[in-house]
Amino acid sequence: MKFSIASFSIFSMTFTRKTVLKQKCCTPIFIRYHQVKTPRLWPSVGKIAAGKQFTRLCLVLALLLTPPLKGEVPAFIRGCMDCHGENGISQQNDVPTIAGLSAAYHKASLYAYRNRQRPAVPSKYRLGDQDRPSTDMKTISDRLTDREITYISLYFAAQRFIPAKQNFNPLLVEQGEKIHRTYCQRCHKDRGSRAGDDSGLLAGQWSGYLNNTMKFYRNGSREMEKKMAVMLAKISEQEWQALLAYYASQR
Ligand code: HEC
Ligand code: HEC
Repeated sequence: MKFSIASFSIFSMTFTRKTVLKQKCCTPIFIRYHQVKTPRLWPSVGKIAAGKQFTRLCLVLALLLTPPLKGEVPAFIRGCMDCHGENGISQQNDVPTIAGLSAAYHKASLYAYRNRQRPAVPSKYRLGDQDRPSTDMKTISDRLTDREITYISLYFAAQRFIPAKQNFNPLLVEQGEKIHRTYCQRCHKDRGSRAGDDSGLLAGQWSGYLNNTMKFYRNGSREMEKKMAVMLAKISEQEWQALLAYYASQR
């Protein structure tokens, strides 16, 4: 019973995604991702369900009802944890923690991999059967259905983000904080820890992953907001290292 209510609310989210996305800042990039290859199921239900209130209700219901699903986590979600760690909390410097990412950001990221708007790094499996051949996020997202992507994004949004315990240079933290406040805070609020910004999570995210993804932004292989590009152009490599220390210092 609980399962079917959860499924209903999760599927309702797929009809109302545009309403959700329009409420957020930084929408153009997301709307663009979502317009590609996302079929509209049951359009008439979608129309009825289009209200903002209804969307919020669905989100709350879905989040409330996710915990009882523990123990019977579907295989397409369990597989993610073989690299991203138990409940999406990574223990590896080059693999991001995905627990607590907003559903909109998570979903957009998977579509970005699938639509080849974002590069992926080949990776070994870190847990379970480690003899499986390496794979990458493009291959993984290719195999997911739209429904699975919606389900995954809600599932991990309901898990708690736990900051990584990692080394950093304490002498750079103060400088990093200033740079963050000047150039990044506008879209990465609360020191880069607010999932609701739909801009990923920077505070407590693994430095190895952030550093790799920054290289992709810098060489143009990962798309980004124009305004973020303007800000990034203003910071030097040394300043980026200071930002990394600042994000890593938040535990
Ligand atoms: C074989 C290891 C592996 C598996 C399995 C895997 N991932 Fe990943 N994932 C990675 C690595 C490594 C990165 C970072 C490098 C990159 O972007 O390719 C990543 C990046 C991501 C990101 C980007 C995070 C961000 O902050 O932007 C998301 C989202 C993600 N994975 C979701 C998933 C989901 C959902 C699944 C399961 C369906 C999954 N991953 C399975 C290795 C894996
Ligand atoms: C105009 C808004 C805006 C500004 C300003 C901005 N960002 Fe972003 N940032 C975004 C959005 C939106 C995303 C997620 C979109 C994407 O790339 O998929 C993002 C994503 C990121 C990511 C990837 C997160 C992940 O989990 O993969 C990093 C790293 C990042 N920003 C760093 C910065 C830094 C450092 C600054 C300041 C120098 C900055 N951003 C300024 C909007 C902004």
